[in-house]
Amino acid sequence: MSFTLREATIDDCAEILEIRNEKEVRINSFDPNKIEYAAHEKWFKGVLANPSRKILILDNGQIAGVLRFDMDSERAETSIYLAPEYFGRGLGEILLIRGEEWLRNKHPAIKQLTAKIKSDNTRSQSLFAKFGFVEQGEIWVKKI
Ligand SMILES: CC(C)(COP(=O)(O)OP(=O)(O)OC[C@H]1O[C@@H](n2cnc3c(N)ncnc32)[C@H](O)[C@@H]1OP(=O)(O)O)[C@@H](O)C(=O)NCCC(=O)NCCS
Repeated sequence: MSFTLREATIDDCAEILEIRNEKEVRINSFDPNKIEYAAHEKWFKGVLANPSRKILILDNGQIAGVLRFDMDSERAETSIYLAPEYFGRGLGEILLIRGEEWLRNKHPAIKQLTAKIKSDNTRSQSLFAKFGFVEQGEIWVKKI
């Protein structure tokens, strides 16, 4: 199966919400509540209009994974999730690798990645540690 990384567009709005509202994604989010479409659409349009924020999609005809960078001049906060049917296939790592490549190309001034990971989210902690992030409490940090 081949996966491409691309920037999200407004056409991805509904499919992204479907994945974000999956139980397996919500339990690992800092806000575990289901999100209503209207609130999501407003948030999503705001992100698309903001040059400091970027949503990238791992795509194989449908959305397999979502990565968001929230950037300032030197740092990018990184948040990822996969559609649950794609868990356990190494795609989290592919998403992080390709996302970092994208960032190096488009925002070379960024020198640090951060990620906020819940203390009981051992799967995500393993993934980010493997990818070079170091734990500093609930914040994980990687120099790039
Ligand atoms: C976190 C997430 C992106 C991981 O992606 P993935 O590709 O499914 O990850 P994998 O199943 O390959 O697991 C990553 C690593 O953790 C290990 N792992 C899997 N389940 C684990 C568990 N319960 N405890 C500890 N480690 C675990 C795997 O063995 C793997 O390590 P390895 O490559 O050395 O074998 C994905 O599960 C997800 O989207 N979860 C919901 C949202 C989320 O938690 N996002 C992150 C918020 S910061």
